[in-house]
Amino acid sequence: DTIGLKDVYKNYFSIGVAVGKRNLTGEESALIKKHFNSITAENDMKMERMQPQEGQFNRKEADSIISFAEKNNIKVRGHNLCWHEQAPSWFFTGKDGKEVSKAVLLQRLKAHIDAVVGRYKGKIYAWDVVNEAIDDDSTQYLRNSKWFQICGEDFIAKAFEYAHAADPDAKLYYNDYNTERPEKRERVYRLLKSLKDKGVPIDGVGLQAHWSIYEPTEKELVSAIRRYSSLGLKIQFTELDISIYPWEKNKRSKRPDESDAYTAELEARQIAQYKMVFDVFRRYKNVITNVTFWNISDRRTWLDGYPVPGRKNYPLLFDTQLKPKKAYWEVVKF
Ligand code: G3I
Repeated sequence: DTIGLKDVYKNYFSIGVAVGKRNLTGEESALIKKHFNSITAENDMKMERMQPQEGQFNRKEADSIISFAEKNNIKVRGHNLCWHEQAPSWFFTGKDGKEVSKAVLLQRLKAHIDAVVGRYKGKIYAWDVVNEAIDDDSTQYLRNSKWFQICGEDFIAKAFEYAHAADPDAKLYYNDYNTERPEKRERVYRLLKSLKDKGVPIDGVGLQAHWSIYEPTEKELVSAIRRYSSLGLKIQFTELDISIYPWEKNKRSKRPDESDAYTAELEARQIAQYKMVFDVFRRYKNVITNVTFWNISDRRTWLDGYPVPGRKNYPLLFDTQLKPKKAYWEVVKF
């Protein structure tokens, strides 16, 4: 029989999973209770879900996730308070239809964070305060989002200050992807260092870990952990999944075909990648405080159909029948 991932890793770090309300009943909820001691709302705490219109809060789904967690003694990671995606356009627009000023936008950000973090004060142990503020283009530093266009880089520090004021006990994280790629790693490091130097209340960095069977390499992963933790920050792997497709291939928009099958060879590579990353995680348990999977099983993952429409992916430790995969056994055996 399987052993709970959270029990196997109890002397290392908490083990989390991203969920929606639909996962909280039936077979899937049993799996959550058995294996995980931390949960994240995959979508339900994002800006547009929490505050679709100014001053109009929608907390039903988020509340049901919190109460499931409380009932089952599971901690909650909050995701997220400020992001360029899933941020409703009213934030950036005034009554006159024009773009708002920096002062107005920061005031709206503060009101949002006060309301959301305030409501769950003491119930959410860590928040992704700012998500994905670094540009994808390696020659750029910060992403040219609405937040950046209107506020410059100040919105980042402000978001952390507002969150800290709303719940001084919550751990505050900056969260991003591709953070092991050397060029992006250095840009993320630059941001984190500037926040630390300014005395901004930041506790750690969330490395999303949307990985593939080809990347990161062990060397890249270790370098990233060392680099970020050298700033005195904690590390959480916040959205782990290991795609069976290389990201290079993803870039081409293609239809699913024969070559997209989940072959034994791809599975073997995936097992090896899961083994490698968990070996590294255990080695760095002093700085790693949580590892969260982005969904429960291959039954449904955000990678289904992304970025190739219609293409299935198999990135997690449990299969479409919710049975443990070989990779699961590799992760619990050490
Ligand atoms: O719930 C609605 C449904 O009512 C509607 O009919 C349907 C029509 O498209 O959309 C549904 O919402 C979708 C939602 O997922 C729930 O399935 C949104 O369109 C879709 O955009 C949304 O995608 C989410 C994505 O963030 C948004 O950018 C993914 O589920 C979620 O896994 C993904 O998570 C992000 C992290 O927050 C940040 N890091 C990257 C990660 C993967 O992209």
